Amino acid sequence: MLQVKPIILVTGGAGYIGSHTVLALSRAGYRVIVLDNLVGGHQEFVADILQVELVVGDICDRPMLDRLFAKYKIAAVLHFAAYIAVGESVSDPAKYYRNNVSGTLTLLEAMVAANVKKLVFPSTCAVYGMPKQLPMTEDHPKDPLNPYATSKWMMEQMLEDFDRAYNLRSIVFRFFNAAGANSEGLLGEDHHPETHLIPLVLLAALGKRESISICGTDYPTPDGTCLRDYIHVSDLANAHILALEYLLAGGKSEVFNLGNGNGFSVREVIETAKQVTGKELKIIECDRRLGDAPILVGSSDKVREILGWCAQYPDLSKIITDAWQWHQQRHR
Ligand SMILES: NC(=O)c1ccc[n+]([C@@H]2O[C@H](COP(=O)([O-])OP(=O)(O)OC[C@H]3O[C@@H](n4cnc5c(N)ncnc54)[C@H](O)[C@@H]3O)[C@@H](O)[C@H]2O)c1
Repeated sequence: MLQVKPIILVTGGAGYIGSHTVLALSRAGYRVIVLDNLVGGHQEFVADILQVELVVGDICDRPMLDRLFAKYKIAAVLHFAAYIAVGESVSDPAKYYRNNVSGTLTLLEAMVAANVKKLVFPSTCAVYGMPKQLPMTEDHPKDPLNPYATSKWMMEQMLEDFDRAYNLRSIVFRFFNAAGANSEGLLGEDHHPETHLIPLVLLAALGKRESISICGTDYPTPDGTCLRDYIHVSDLANAHILALEYLLAGGKSEVFNLGNGNGFSVREVIETAKQVTGKELKIIECDRRLGDAPILVGSSDKVREILGWCAQYPDLSKIITDAWQWHQQRHR
């Protein structure tokens, strides 16, 4: 007998990681409703490529959420909707606390009222602050260094309390650096403004940016530049399916790192991008940025053990090749 899979609400599903996860959900047979206010998302991802239902709305809008939960029998929520720019969160923290924290609280209250009690939530490795040991494990001390990271840490704590008081079960993923694009060239990363290294390098390769800045070349790392843990966005998406299945099967709340376990330096990323694109890039070396840790690499042992997740695309060259394919099409 054909088993009908439940309906999943994906907030922020028109954005970068959300859209890749919607694709993975659809391919796994789930019916997906995307809720996105399109401040940073792309309508065409949902309407033309994913072809799932899009509700254009805001997670801060409680009456709309109540109507949504009344209309659809939603089994779980994957909650990507957030503002994500670290620098902007420093200059305008109110915007981040209102959207990310207050918006998430509104969503959680609506979920509890509608008796929808399963949530997957993307947090960030930035909740750890400066690394005290490497690779960082989930029990590493928390010391968020900017309002964006603080907002994610506040939401994690909110989820702990909602579990205790209302039995709302959640999986929190602390992402390291999401990168790459769908290997078939269907979806990719297009933030405005873009702040992530790999798309910035590729935009420079396409002639859309003049140069690439390396901020700090005197870090205690093999080539003097910062090391980061890049994880393919499709590997992140697959982890969300595993998390969803775990929660639907009655699993308890957990917090997991999601990273590759490998650090790649800024220079390595640039060199790999030069090889993949065949383009020369103008590099400008400048001073360190305040608050940048020399190395951020996470241990994903726990998610491997409990969810059986494993990165299918750990190779930096593959990550950049997929992103390059998409960027070329996007900017044709
Ligand atoms: N990109 C990364 O490397 C990374 C790392 C760690 C954590 N995360 C988290 O993953 C999630 C997705 O990140 P992304 O890179 O895909 O960002 P994104 O900006 O591409 O996607 C976020 C989406 O949320 C939507 N949105 C924002 N506020 C909303 C609101 N109030 N109501 C409805 N929709 C709203 C935006 O329109 C956008 O489509 C975010 O929560 C982010 O904090 C991302």
